[in-house]
Order: sequence, then C-alpha cells, then structure tokens
Amino acid sequence: MGKSPMHAPPWWTAVLRRLTTASAAELKTQAAREEAEWKPLYRRLSVLGGAPEGSVTATLDQWEMEGWRMTALWLMKHIRELRKYRRHEHALEMMHWMEKRGMETPNGYHAVRIDLISKVKGIRSAEEYFSNLPEPAKNRRTYGALFSCYCSGRMTDRAIALLEKMKERKFASHVLIYNNLMSLYMKLGQLEKVPILFQEMKASNVLPDSCTYRIIMKSYASMSDIVSVERVTQEMESQGASDCLTYCHLAWLYNSAGLFEKAEVALKKAELVMGSHDLSSFRLLISLYAAAGNLSEVKRVWNLLKARVPRPTNMNYLIMLEALRKLDDMDGLKQCSEEWESGCVNYDIRLVNILIGAYLRRGMVDEAKLLQEKADQMGEWSDEHTFVLFIDHYLKNRKLELAQKYSKLATSIVKKGQLKTIETGDVS
Ligand SMILES: *[C@@H]1O[C@H](CO)[C@@H](O)[C@H](O)[C@H]1NC(C)=O
Repeated sequence: MGKSPMHAPPWWTAVLRRLTTASAAELKTQAAREEAEWKPLYRRLSVLGGAPEGSVTATLDQWEMEGWRMTALWLMKHIRELRKYRRHEHALEMMHWMEKRGMETPNGYHAVRIDLISKVKGIRSAEEYFSNLPEPAKNRRTYGALFSCYCSGRMTDRAIALLEKMKERKFASHVLIYNNLMSLYMKLGQLEKVPILFQEMKASNVLPDSCTYRIIMKSYASMSDIVSVERVTQEMESQGASDCLTYCHLAWLYNSAGLFEKAEVALKKAELVMGSHDLSSFRLLISLYAAAGNLSEVKRVWNLLKARVPRPTNMNYLIMLEALRKLDDMDGLKQCSEEWESGCVNYDIRLVNILIGAYLRRGMVDEAKLLQEKADQMGEWSDEHTFVLFIDHYLKNRKLELAQKYSKLATSIVKKGQLKTIETGDVS
C-alpha cells in the first residue's frame, strides 16, 4: 500500500506477469469472487432480490458467524435502505432477527416496524403491534407511524380519531402529520379541506415543508384557483422555500390549466435556480417546455444538457424524442434518433417506438415498417407497444384485415416467447 507502481516493487512485477499470462476473463471472475467474499452486508442483502423468507436470516447468521461486529444502529441503517427500495418483507425479517438476538431498539425502531408490518401483514397487525408496545414506546414517532398507515390506507375515521388522541398528548403538531392528512383528502377528492388544514397548521406554528407546498398548490390548481397557487408560490419565495422543483411544479400546473405563457415564465425561473449538474432537472425542463409547446426552448435545453454530458443516456434520448414527438417535429425526430443510433450502446425498442408512432401518425407506413424490421435485425424484438402502434393505425384507417393480421402476428410471437417484455415478465 502507498507504493507507486513506477518503482516497480516485486508485487508489481508479479501483477504484470499475471496480467500478461492470465486471460482477461479469468481475472474478471477472480476479481468478482474476491469482491463477493469481502462484500459488505448490504451488498449481500441486495443480491437476495426476491428471495423467499428465511434468506435474510441465513445471511445475517452467516455474517455473524464470520465474526463481523454489528450494532443495532448499524442494522437499522440497512433496514431503512431495504425499505427505501420497497423490500419490506426483507426489512421486517431483519427486525425479527434483531428481536430474537435481544438487541436494543434504537430510536425510530418501533415506528419503522409499524410501517413495515402494515405493508407486509396489513393495518390490523400494525395496530396490534402498536397497542402491545410498552407505554414509553407509545411516543410521537409510533403514533405518527400508525397515523400514516391509516392515511395511506384511506381510513379517514380512524385517522381522525387517532389524531384527537395525539392532540391530547401534544404529538400532533408536526409537518408530517399535516402532510399525511392533506394527501389523504387529496386522494379522497375533498380538495376544499386542504386549505383549511393549511391554515390550521400555520395557526399552530407548524412550518410547512416543500411537500406541504406541493400539495396545497395542487389542491388550489385542481379547484382552478390559479390566483391562490400564485400567492402560495410568492409565500414560498419570501420564505426562501422555493427551488427548481417548485417552479417546475408550478409550470406543470400552468400547463395543465392551458396557461402556457405563464408556464414558460415559471420554467425560466426554474432554470435560474437549478443545479447545473442535475440532469434530471434538464429532463424536466425539456418535458415541460414541450408541454408548453415551445420547440426552440426544448432544443436549447437539450443542447445545454449535451454540453454537460459526453454522451446522453437512452433515458435522456427517450425524454427528448418524446418531446419532439409531442411537438410534431418530424425532422428533429429523425435527426435526434439518428444521432442516438450512431452512438448508442444499447439498442432500445422504446426509443424506436416513438419514431414508429410518429411515422404512423403521418400515414408513413413504409417508413414505420422499415424501422420495425431494422429493430428486429438488431435483435431487439418489437414489443407489444410496437404492435399496438400498428394495430391502432390500421383500426383508425378502417383497415380491419391488416389490424387483425398484426394482432395475430403479435399473439404468435407472444406464444413463441419472442417478446422481450413478456420473457422478462415471466422470469420475475
Ligand atoms: C419560446 O420561448 C422563447 C424564449 O422565451 C420565446 O422568445 C418564443 O416566443 C417562444 N416561442 C413560442 C412558440 O412560444
């Protein structure tokens, strides 16, 4: 360690010899094996994928047997990470393992567990777990967790009843509680209740966060109250709470209301405050400028994005092609897809489908077919969306026989298992 290869110490000579003799593939598998043996716990857990119950326990037992030290806090980090990737069963299994070992329960343990139980076993089990908790563990966090379960389960009555108890215990004045309840009312379509809660929240000195603002803006926009949407935006600005996402959200609301010029003004503001390395903001801007109908701005932002990355990913091309299709810019589409194809690493049928769809919409069937054939030659089989595009086209033009021919073709290919999407669907 610390020695530079330039001095050519003995180990380096040995490495050089191995490099020249061992085949690259051999080295690769060896490296993979070494890595596997030294993988930290999370990587071992993450390769389990959708493995059945018991696999997490086995992994943890193995880890312990190898003599690794682990603290409850460190395990909690893993549990939170598993939960983030929606691997609720595995996260819960890990909690059971901790319990069996009689490990201490770090802050937030019970709250996380309530959330996981309700997701894996249902709300009833979560309620039961909560009511069996020792009194000191029935705190702000665990009450909040149960409340959030009620809200996502759309159980309004229970949520309100619990909220009353929480108010008595002074657990209710928290931004998450309000956000949960507001989201619930949005889901239930009771939009008018959202601003009332927003006022109540401010009256109790609870500071709104960006999520609160998004909900309240959306509720006003859904009630076609653009003046209030703008007032909330100004309030956010005055509190320094506005960011790129705020303005993108605002633009999205304006676009939905058909106020395209206002949307463009909001997008200009978004651009002023966005981080220049955050590619997802560029993608958002492209989609939103496209929805506002401004082709030149779409192209300008695309060029900004390209100036920041040497080669845009398929994902970036997908967003750009979608934008061009929406704006019906056939020349731009052709040029952009040629550019993608000439530099692409993975041929991606989703991108081809956009162009096929655009051709078909203009009645350019031969061009569309040519693209489909080419995709098949590239070994990237047409997927069901490709066929749906053709079937739709023929149905629209009252060419029933051709539509039937395509749906038969699609069915036969599905049966043969050639459709990639179907294949992967079978595996998972
Ligand atoms: C697109 O945006 C630019 C810059 O804001 C503006 O000059 C132009 O008029 C807009 N074009 C359309 C079609 O709205």
